[in-house]
Amino acid sequence: MNETINLLKNHRSNRNFVKGYKLSTEELDSIIEATKQAPSWMNGQQYNVIVVDNQEIKEKLYSLSTRNNHIDTSSVFLIFCADVTRQKLSSDYHNQNFAVENNIDLLINSTTDVTIAMQNAATAAESLGYGTVYCGGVRVIAKEIIEMFDIPKYSFPICGLSIGKLDEELTTERKKPRFKTEVNVGHNEYVKSTTEDILEYDKIMEIFAEARETKLWSKKFADVYEVNTGQTQELLKKQGF
Ligand SMILES: Cc1cc2nc3c(=O)[nH]c(=O)nc-3n(C[C@H](O)[C@H](O)[C@H](O)COP(=O)(O)O)c2cc1C
Repeated sequence: MNETINLLKNHRSNRNFVKGYKLSTEELDSIIEATKQAPSWMNGQQYNVIVVDNQEIKEKLYSLSTRNNHIDTSSVFLIFCADVTRQKLSSDYHNQNFAVENNIDLLINSTTDVTIAMQNAATAAESLGYGTVYCGGVRVIAKEIIEMFDIPKYSFPICGLSIGKLDEELTTERKKPRFKTEVNVGHNEYVKSTTEDILEYDKIMEIFAEARETKLWSKKFADVYEVNTGQTQELLKKQGF
């Protein structure tokens, strides 16, 4: 159709990068510029990005999140924080209350801003021929990241994004199937999913047989949502959200 749509339609996360490969300053600057031009709620730009291209820091992060070896081999690891520090400064300047604690809208607004900016970064990087992988694993080590980077109150690390040069020999990733469109896209209607839809997708993913997927899709989510540890909630509260 066109290059942008083709790029998006063929997206794959890639986790095998050529360690030590550096993006040019121009490439990194372009990715950051594309990131920052993302739309945001009320033009709030409620995010901060930590651009980690220092190998020692990447290794330290990898040592805290050993399932995510792509952090170590990436050229750059971007940490995206939901961030309302500039909103706090604005409220203080106008001598107004800053009612953010337990404010779910604020959490949705800032994480949405983060997400859109991240996807701009990922698309820009992929358009330059680089591989990307999001890293929600950042939230598991949020406490350590907050300490490492001295992240202040009203800012919280939501997700990371590894960007790197694909290691063609190690890269085996194939485009991953999604739910068929009728399952979660309705034209002028809300479509309701059924258990049959889930079982059908379980089968599709079983046949797709990606090595890193050790459980059925449905079981993976049944397990992950079986308990709420509340760990993130506690830390969010500490950061003022
Ligand atoms: C918010 C978010 C968090 C993610 N966190 C991780 C992660 O911590 N580690 C990882 O290896 N992949 C992570 N991924 C990548 C997903 O596993 C991947 O996008 C999904 O399996 C679909 O595969 P695909 O991107 O190759 O199509 C994350 C993706 C998103 C959108």
